[in-house]
Amino acid sequence: MDVASLRLNSGRRMPIIGMGTSEKKPHFPGSRSEMKEAVSEALRIGYRHFDCAFVYKNEAEVGEALKEAMESGQVLREDLFITTKLPPHYNDPALVREALDSSLKWLKLDYVDLYLIHVPFSIDREYLKAIGEEKMYQKPEEPDKFYTSMDHSKIWQGMEKLVDEGLVRSIGLSNFNQQQIQHVIDNCSIKPANLQVECHAYLPERELLNFCNQHKIVLTAFAPLGSPAFAKATCAGEPVLLEDPVVKKVGDKHKKSPAQVLLRWLIQRNICVLPKSVNKVRLKENFDVLDFALDEADVEEMNTLGTKNLRYFLYEPSEDSPDYPFPRSKAA
Ligand code: A2P
Repeated sequence: MDVASLRLNSGRRMPIIGMGTSEKKPHFPGSRSEMKEAVSEALRIGYRHFDCAFVYKNEAEVGEALKEAMESGQVLREDLFITTKLPPHYNDPALVREALDSSLKWLKLDYVDLYLIHVPFSIDREYLKAIGEEKMYQKPEEPDKFYTSMDHSKIWQGMEKLVDEGLVRSIGLSNFNQQQIQHVIDNCSIKPANLQVECHAYLPERELLNFCNQHKIVLTAFAPLGSPAFAKATCAGEPVLLEDPVVKKVGDKHKKSPAQVLLRWLIQRNICVLPKSVNKVRLKENFDVLDFALDEADVEEMNTLGTKNLRYFLYEPSEDSPDYPFPRSKAA
């Protein structure tokens, strides 16, 4: 792999820049996905790491772009690093294989490089089927029926089996808090290789990063740019990271954009970044962040932004779950 990479505790290497593939709206059948063209463009630019998920509903489009690139000889499978995630209504050791099989079918692959438990809260699959899958993102009317409380270490056993079967190269967690990760570590045969969480200059996650370093777990940042469209739509009144004057000032000094400064700041902390874009120019901009470095003064200035501790992705409808990973709001 010619892209800078981080070594996972499984011995595999993960490119430090990946493309996030979640779309602004969940891609239910009938809606148009822009993802195939964006992934093809990213492959031309040089991206080799793609971050997918069952719940993004667009793995088929991502898979088409990957297949075309491999069939035309543009890339080899072993040069790609593909991540996907177990959805919350399959958080059950008996269902893990079925969920992965669906993702592999849509992605048109026979293995993935990294498989993550997407969220710590578990949804009852039969109940969700009865009320409609689109309700997954809404506050449930009957939380006791909607959520199950599945022991994470039991789900993890299902994940470990996939490694043994050669269907996934490495396994990890996403959106878990430190206590939840520790519980998995205390009861596992294969240690989590990766933790994917929201992380950016307004939410630096210093303590969690230290914890991950101690356990040789690589941290991956989703929403590394602070997801401006999401922030504006759902966090009205909160500052928008990409518009922060400190970020702009540091960028002006290096003749780099605010997005490049934000990504570079994370990369210099050995955090893997997953910027999302469906725009050719911005895809390229987000990939070109390895030819400059922030100096000590820049880093110090960027670090001042972390006092905000601003989490944009609170998964508030899930506050009723016993496994909700963040401090609950007062209203809950
Ligand atoms: P677009 O797809 O139109 O480029 P995050 O990765 O933090 O979740 O942020 C993703 C959002 O940021 C997308 O809405 C994307 O919009 C926008 N975005 C991605 N790259 C850049 C960039 N380099 N500059 C400004 N906005 C960007």
